[in-house]
Amino acid sequence: MDKVKFTEMKHGDREDYEFLTEHEIEYASKTAERLLAAMVDLDESLSGYQVTRLGHSLQAATRAWCDGADVDWVVSALLHDIGDIYAPYNHDEYAAAILKPFVREQCAWVVEKHGDFQKLYYAHHVGGNPHARDAYKGHAYYDDCATFCERWDQNSFDPDYAHEGIEFFRDMVEQVFARKAYDPAVIRAGERVDLTDPTLASERNT
Ligand SMILES: [Fe+2]
Ligand SMILES: [Fe+2]
Repeated sequence: MDKVKFTEMKHGDREDYEFLTEHEIEYASKTAERLLAAMVDLDESLSGYQVTRLGHSLQAATRAWCDGADVDWVVSALLHDIGDIYAPYNHDEYAAAILKPFVREQCAWVVEKHGDFQKLYYAHHVGGNPHARDAYKGHAYYDDCATFCERWDQNSFDPDYAHEGIEFFRDMVEQVFARKAYDPAVIRAGERVDLTDPTLASERNT
């Protein structure tokens, strides 16, 4: 069998759907590879900045790494703008949807809201609301999103910052997307992990 027998889903039988499940497992196992390739496509996305979107993403992830952040944070920093390609008006939600099954709830939330938090830095120049983040005041991850934007996102447009290349992050991306989707041990609902770890940071910066 190399294709299902049905042309309408309602006519599929157990054999068809078992075959498709196998296929999906195989396809899903290559998610990390496809995401890394998509990151390279970001090199050609929206310019006007002094760095490409890929350069910006690599800077953000390198800063996370240098801060001693754990793998969930580093991969979230790397992919936080991946939505720019297909969802320019809700790129944050798009990226969060990709990450949600595989990283801590905290990281997915921060990626989902980072667009609103970033407005603090520029919205007043374009007639927007720089305080859009106020809508989330009191949320458990509010401070984490503020830190994410301040330390890793808003400052990662510097053509002189020496960042790691995409290959540096390959193993981390593979590790995260090889996890069991929505595993409660990964999602760790409600748990906060600091974005920075000074001990790890000093090890990584030597
Ligand atoms: Fe963004
Ligand atoms: Fe960004």
